[in-house]
Amino acid sequence: MENKINEIRTLALAEIEEATDLKTLEVVKNKYLSRNSEFNNLKKGMKDLTPEQRPVIGALLNKVSAELEKLVNDKNEIFYKKELDERLLKEKIDVTLDGDFVPTGHIHPLTQTVNEIVEIFNHLGFSLIEPQYSPEVEVEKYNFDLLNFPAEHPAKDMQDTFYCEGASNVILRSQTSNSQVRQMLNSKPPIKVISPGRVYRNESVSARKNNLFHQIEGLYVDKNVTMAQLKGVLNEFVRLYFGSSRPTRFRSSYFPFTEPSVEIDVQCIMCQGKGCSVCSGTGWLEILGAGMVDPNVLKGVNIDADVYSGFAFGMGVERLTMLKYAIDDIRLFFNNDTRFLKQF
Ligand code: PHE
Repeated sequence: MENKINEIRTLALAEIEEATDLKTLEVVKNKYLSRNSEFNNLKKGMKDLTPEQRPVIGALLNKVSAELEKLVNDKNEIFYKKELDERLLKEKIDVTLDGDFVPTGHIHPLTQTVNEIVEIFNHLGFSLIEPQYSPEVEVEKYNFDLLNFPAEHPAKDMQDTFYCEGASNVILRSQTSNSQVRQMLNSKPPIKVISPGRVYRNESVSARKNNLFHQIEGLYVDKNVTMAQLKGVLNEFVRLYFGSSRPTRFRSSYFPFTEPSVEIDVQCIMCQGKGCSVCSGTGWLEILGAGMVDPNVLKGVNIDADVYSGFAFGMGVERLTMLKYAIDDIRLFFNNDTRFLKQF
């Protein structure tokens, strides 16, 4: 028995010595130290020994198995470290290399313009309207009647406005001015809001017109609001949006809900006022409509026109974006062609 143990020990020592990596070491370990190993079988044979032999052989078996185990574990640790070092070296990451390009989306040019204009008016004391006062699906009353449109006004024609089939007075709003009415019906002056949103008109689509576009409406109602304030606010807006060197002019105009009404032009950004095809030779480009809120409108929303006055203005977001970036076709905003959109 003693000889057998020493024989196995010699073989095991040689094989441990020969093992060159974790894998071969694992094989040796299983062969000599697992439960089914020859060595372990010898332990089971102890019961057949004489009482005198038993402690001697037992001690020898323990000594040898402890010796082999220590050798295997020590080598295991060395191989593990070595293989880890090799792997770390091989799988090294160069953090200075360029990464893969991951394209990200960005904000649509119209939204950029809306954000910019809203920010300018925030700066001038106007707050963003609450969305429930500015619905896109509207009834005629708020889009036309309470804005002092006469019953037979041509804008109410189905050729100009989208009507809902089956509910004759339900429309897609043709202007953001519906939000003026709803704001005034639901709050008391002073009112100073800005209201951006989509509007719809039943027109044939061309480079200049789309049947969906965006407007921004502004409304200021308080005691002693004057035309001079309207001029001051809108001139300041033009200065901040187009830059300080861009002259403006106020032309008298007509809207049913404002009296007096004006249209505001900026000097043509293409020809600097000399006259070109973009400004039809006039040297001026119309950018917005405005006026003093008509007393009839104030009456309709229960605001005392003898105490309060106000001004309102409305502008087209597509038009302002086209003028700023010299874009010649409104349809570009709606085609979702990334070659166009990426430029903003
Ligand atoms: N709603 C008018 C339009 O669509 C613009 C406007 C708004 C004019 C407010 C005056 C005051 O043309």
